[in-house]
Amino acid sequence: MHTVQQAAGAHASAGREPVLETENLVKVYGRGESRFDALKGVTLQIQAGESVAIVGKSGSGKSTLMHLLALLDRPSAGVVAMDGRPVQDVSPAEVARLRNETFGFVFQQFFLNPAQTVLENTVLPLKISGVPRAERRERGMAVLERLELADKAGNKATDLSGGQKQRVCIARALVNRPTVLFADEPTGNLDSATSAAVEDILFGLHRDEGITLVVVTHDDDLAARCDRRLVMQDGMIVDETTTAGAQA
Ligand SMILES: Nc1ncnc2c1ncn2[C@@H]1O[C@H](COP(=O)(O)OP(=O)(O)OP(=O)(O)O)[C@@H](O)[C@H]1O
Ligand SMILES: [Mg+2]
Repeated sequence: MHTVQQAAGAHASAGREPVLETENLVKVYGRGESRFDALKGVTLQIQAGESVAIVGKSGSGKSTLMHLLALLDRPSAGVVAMDGRPVQDVSPAEVARLRNETFGFVFQQFFLNPAQTVLENTVLPLKISGVPRAERRERGMAVLERLELADKAGNKATDLSGGQKQRVCIARALVNRPTVLFADEPTGNLDSATSAAVEDILFGLHRDEGITLVVVTHDDDLAARCDRRLVMQDGMIVDETTTAGAQA
């Protein structure tokens, strides 16, 4: 896909390359009577270092699309390519490795392990990658420090406020130094002051470290801070706007 891309695309985003692209992505849930076409042919590109908001009504397919982009689920038809490589050509073990090393995830439901401490929750991706314990601790504490949670490292994850839990999720998403950060309603459960703080963290990473951001949101202010906004309706992208000088 690279060559096609480069030939066709010495355009506006010259020098940039899609880190993720999809072609005619289809996702069907269920079958027969209960069949539901959640994605009906989505083609998009996400350039390295870009911030993209995915917006649209409840049920329009935003989370479904994000799960496919993040290689957490497989499409019914169509292609997802990462760095120009169609994912279906990559072995499942390699996909798992790529996902763990390249992507970070922040979901609205926190998915923190309540029995574990903040630090243990944070370093889970490092554990999966087989990073030794001492290094896990060091990197985990560094990222918690950055999110102003170092003093909570030893607390059980349940003993935190909503905003703090969301920051632990961000810490866990960052500990592997991902190049792409996916966030599904990262501020959905938070009050406006805490949302603003979480947003600042996400866009700070985008600006300072060139991390690619893909954010599903109902929040217009958050969407407006992104370089590009994709509007979904009934399983399709129906509108796309590029925000001039989006970075706050
Ligand atoms: N596992 C599933 N089985 C059957 N249908 C599903 C499944 N997951 C999602 N759907 C349906 O697919 C459609 C898209 O769901 P999706 O979660 O992508 O929506 P969304 O845009 O993220 O909505 P929200 O803003 O409410 O989170 C919905 O109609 C939903 O009911
Ligand atoms: Mg959703």
